[in-house]
Amino acid sequence: MKGILQFIIMIVALSIALSGCTSNQSDDSKIHDLTVSKYDGKIKELMAKMTIEEKIGQLNMLSGDWAITGPFIRADFKQDIKAGKVGSMLNCYTVDYTRELINLSVDSTRLGIPLLLGYDVVHGHRTIFPIPLAEACTWDLNLMEQTARIAAIEASAEGIHWTFAPMVDITRDPRWGRVMEGAGEDPWYGSLVAIAKVKGYQGDDLSKDNTILACVKHVAAYGAAEAGRDYNTVDLSLRSLYETYLPPFHAAVEAGVGSAMTAFNEINGIPCTENQWLWEDLFRKQWGFDGLVVTDYTAINEMIEHGVAANLYQASVLAINAGVDVDMVGQGFLLNLKQAIEKGDVTQEQLDKAVYRILKAKFELGLFDDPYKYCNKEREKADIMIPERTQFCREVATKSMVLLKNSNKLLPLSKEIKTIAVIGPLADNKIDMIGGWSAAGDRNSRPVTLFEGVKNKLSSKTVVLYALGTDFNTSSTEGFDEAIRAAKQADVVLLALGESNDMSAEAKSRSSIDLPGNQNLLADEILKVNKNTVIILMNGRPLTIQHLDDVAPAILETWFAGTEAGNAIADVVFGDYNPAGKLTMTFPRNAGQIPIYYSHKNTGRPFDVNNSWTSHYIDVDNTPLYPFGYGLSYTRFEYSNLTLDKKEMTHPEVVRVSVTVTNSGNYDGEEVVQLYIQDLVGSVTRPIKELKGFEKIFIKQGNSVTVHFTIGQEELSFYREDMSFGSEPGEYRIYVGGSSDTENSVRLTLN
Ligand code: NOJ
Repeated sequence: MKGILQFIIMIVALSIALSGCTSNQSDDSKIHDLTVSKYDGKIKELMAKMTIEEKIGQLNMLSGDWAITGPFIRADFKQDIKAGKVGSMLNCYTVDYTRELINLSVDSTRLGIPLLLGYDVVHGHRTIFPIPLAEACTWDLNLMEQTARIAAIEASAEGIHWTFAPMVDITRDPRWGRVMEGAGEDPWYGSLVAIAKVKGYQGDDLSKDNTILACVKHVAAYGAAEAGRDYNTVDLSLRSLYETYLPPFHAAVEAGVGSAMTAFNEINGIPCTENQWLWEDLFRKQWGFDGLVVTDYTAINEMIEHGVAANLYQASVLAINAGVDVDMVGQGFLLNLKQAIEKGDVTQEQLDKAVYRILKAKFELGLFDDPYKYCNKEREKADIMIPERTQFCREVATKSMVLLKNSNKLLPLSKEIKTIAVIGPLADNKIDMIGGWSAAGDRNSRPVTLFEGVKNKLSSKTVVLYALGTDFNTSSTEGFDEAIRAAKQADVVLLALGESNDMSAEAKSRSSIDLPGNQNLLADEILKVNKNTVIILMNGRPLTIQHLDDVAPAILETWFAGTEAGNAIADVVFGDYNPAGKLTMTFPRNAGQIPIYYSHKNTGRPFDVNNSWTSHYIDVDNTPLYPFGYGLSYTRFEYSNLTLDKKEMTHPEVVRVSVTVTNSGNYDGEEVVQLYIQDLVGSVTRPIKELKGFEKIFIKQGNSVTVHFTIGQEELSFYREDMSFGSEPGEYRIYVGGSSDTENSVRLTLN
């Protein structure tokens, strides 16, 4: 009887949820009223004067020609701006250029509505910080807010009003090139990072001249692209959408993000750019989102290829009726909406809602008070790449680095070393230091290379040798001899291996995530002649480096560390900073393990070494090479006395968790203390562990610190069998440790 009841509940719950998910009918009763802006009167006054063509023009975004971030579609954008056919632009910056474009919108159009200017300011504008995946490994939310703040200051000093960031896509597939843009695999942590970023970009008042509109992207589940191939289709359950992919978006909305971008992919068969359930029901009605929805680059046009629209007219109708406001680059709205309104396929009200939201953003940014407020020549000169920001950039980079291996305490190195060789394709390479999506960052002359950073750090008494060794895309061993000679002469080698910057980011998926080219071979040859070889990894995604882990004594993951890369690596390598970064994305042993992530389900046959009929591979362990949350320090941290102030709790009580962390090594250092929860028996299957708390603490050598966490209903809640969010009475296991593979745990009962 119970079984039948459960089945009926499940069918009813899923059909309610899925009917929303698949519904694509235009039903005005579903579309909630716009949140009234404090500029309501002014917006409506302006809208009353606008012709239908002028309204449609506001929905059209064109690309400038300064940066190409998608297929190029030619448009005479200056002419179109003057004709009132453009509401926003992307890919244009600098005060002179943005002033020129804004001037066209203000002086040459009938109503003088200023342009809105957007750009992908993802990890800095001119001062380039480490890539977001690296920065996430700092586990320092204030720092992440500050880097977004600085990015906003520099971008706004060059005329930019709007950034297409943060990218908060959760991803468990390192083959996907865009993993570099996000915070990694965990939805709870990703939500906190999303909030920090939104606060950083938008500040506390969008009308200031150094705050910019943020855009949370890509809504939604873009990180679940099948086989990690960018733009590929996505197929997932409603449960994993809610549990894994949506939380960071919801957090960004709660933090007041001003805009959101549609993802290229589909959800449950409906491309996100026409997904009425996603935008009108979930974002606007359920979550109360009142910002702008912008498509991704030509995403409306792409609905034809998706096979849900026969032509651009149909695609445009679907998109606007789903609640999309701005059409990025594809001009579907511009060319089709007038006819669609005349034919009754789109209501005037739907168009007005989009125009309202666009004008609201422009009012909130203060563009109607002064369209040129971001176009200040003096500020542009004074507010870009100032030394204190460069210094901070170096600090962020040191904190992003993750020490993956350090046998025999090879690191840190002594500064008194006689001869050091810096070898590898990334050893003296400026171009690759700042990684992908690096906005207006100078990649040719400004970034500090590892070779330069080492020379800056050491006195003239140390001989610093350099050799290229090999390149990323070659099987040639031509450069090996020179590299081997340098390694033989040196007391220590820093071997800089990894990917070039253009191997990650958009459209940069890889089917193999091994070190490209013959870099492993180079490592073998160098290690044959010099055992004191430290691998300095630079890359935009987790790589499969089982071989390096087997043969090299020390590995430091430095990612693409930004403008100050070389100096920051030298700080870590020579012990001026004790590394404390912890991975926020699992490193697989080989690509066949993908998707691999710490918070997986147990299955009915979890691996048991004594039973071959359990879930495993016959050719590789189930475990990753390095798990989520993992990272070493030059010192050692020990965990003891994990206790709860009560073993049982009843709603609405909370439980206090305490743990003592002792620095028992020889250096002062920071540790990221992580708390994970496992729900042992639920109405639905639950992950084996979920991150629900962390604290980054500094402990002097020889000292102990007691860390406290609080567990309440929120931490124990999840989407239950009927998809309602809440907790269930039962048994939980609480883990606290320095990595997701910790076994240090206690039990808790929720009554
Ligand atoms: C396409 C990318 O998917 C998106 O993230 C970016 O913001 C736009 N291009 C604009 O560059």
